[in-house]
Amino acid sequence: MSQYTALHGVLAVLLCAAMSTTAAAADVKASKEQIARGKYLLIVGSCNDCHTAGFAPSNGKVPESEWLLGDGKVGFRGPWGTTYAPNVRLSLSRMKEDDWVRYARNLQTRPPMPWFNLNRWTEADLRAFYRYVRQMGPVGAPIRPGLPPDEAPAPPYIEWPAPPAGKK
Ligand code: HEC
Repeated sequence: MSQYTALHGVLAVLLCAAMSTTAAAADVKASKEQIARGKYLLIVGSCNDCHTAGFAPSNGKVPESEWLLGDGKVGFRGPWGTTYAPNVRLSLSRMKEDDWVRYARNLQTRPPMPWFNLNRWTEADLRAFYRYVRQMGPVGAPIRPGLPPDEAPAPPYIEWPAPPAGKK
């Protein structure tokens, strides 16, 4: 089993665990400070670059109402197959706040999601991010699933090279 298949397995298990709980939007109350902090983290964490369609190529000129709804058009292709940046609003709407904290701390995905950075956020930051995202508005629809390495994606996609030898 390749490393990427193994990572994906971990992600699937975590996703299932997270989805077994439901949270109503009304449960989530965010302070002004948390909303400001969550939005700041989203911006400086560059989440929109991948998780918001058209964000990077327009130099960030996408309205906030469309942030984090995922991008099922531009694939990231590499030795792991092809991944698409999912709809994070939808994912968070399916988890309770405590589940999100655990999920984000342990998350491992295929590239190029910088999960190893997200794992290191403080609990307070993860909670502020969650509360900000939960009050963003409509959660939208799921985006398309990724593809295995032997399946060619339809353009457009970004091709990533294999990691240098010894860095897998
Ligand atoms: C360079 C592109 C990129 C950036 C930047 C990025 N992501 Fe991702 N993210 C992805 C891709 C692609 C996946 C899907 C990986 C897979 O399918 O294995 C993903 C998956 C995820 C997942 C797991 C799937 C889900 O919906 O629960 C979460 C959570 C997530 N990203 C949150 C974030 C957050 C929060 C940030 C900003 C701090 C961020 N991402 C920044 C590309 C990115």
